[in-house]
Amino acid sequence: MIDTFHSIPILSSLKNKEKIKILFVCLGNICRSPAAEEIMRQEVIANDAQQRWEIDSAGTGGYHVGDLPDRRMRVHAVRRGYDLTHICRQVRPSDFNRFDLIIGMDDANVRNLKALAPMVEDMEKVIPMSTFLDPGMGYDHIPDPYYEGAEGFERVLDLLQNGCHRLFTALS
Ligand code: 4NP
Repeated sequence: MIDTFHSIPILSSLKNKEKIKILFVCLGNICRSPAAEEIMRQEVIANDAQQRWEIDSAGTGGYHVGDLPDRRMRVHAVRRGYDLTHICRQVRPSDFNRFDLIIGMDDANVRNLKALAPMVEDMEKVIPMSTFLDPGMGYDHIPDPYYEGAEGFERVLDLLQNGCHRLFTALS
C-alpha cells in the first residue's frame, strides 16, 4: 500500500476485504463522478478484479436525475476509451449501508456527504478523491468542469486516471 494511506483507518480495514464497494460522488453526477466510475471500472477490468469491486456514482444535487452524463464529458472521455453510460441519480442515506467508501470530488461534496451520513461512524466512509492523487499532480480536489472549456474536462480526466489507478493499487 502507498505509505500515506496507512494512516487512514478505513483504507487499512478495506485492504483485506473480499469485496469492496465504492461510490464516487460529485455535485451533478453528470461530469466528474460518472467519469470516475467508468475510469475505475476500466482499471478493475484491466487487472481482472471485477469480482472484488462494485462501483457506482451519484450526485449530491438532484438537478440532472435520469440524464446521461454531460455531452462534453462523454466526448472527451470516449477519446480515451471510456464510454460513459451512467444514468444520473442523487445520493441517498441508504448508500451509507451499501458502500464501503464514498469518495467526494471536492470539499463541498465531502461536507455535504458527511451531513447526509445516518450515523456518526458512517462519516468515516467519506473520503476526498484528492487522497489518492499523486501530489505531483498539483491538485487538492477535482475541479468542477461544468463552466470550463475543453481543458477543464481534459484536466478532470487526467486527475481521475491518476487517482483511480492509485486507489486501485492502494487496496490491492
Ligand atoms: P459535476 O458537474 O458535479 O462534475 O457533475 C456539474 C454538473 C452540473 C452542475 C454543476 C456541476 N449544475 O449546476 O447543473
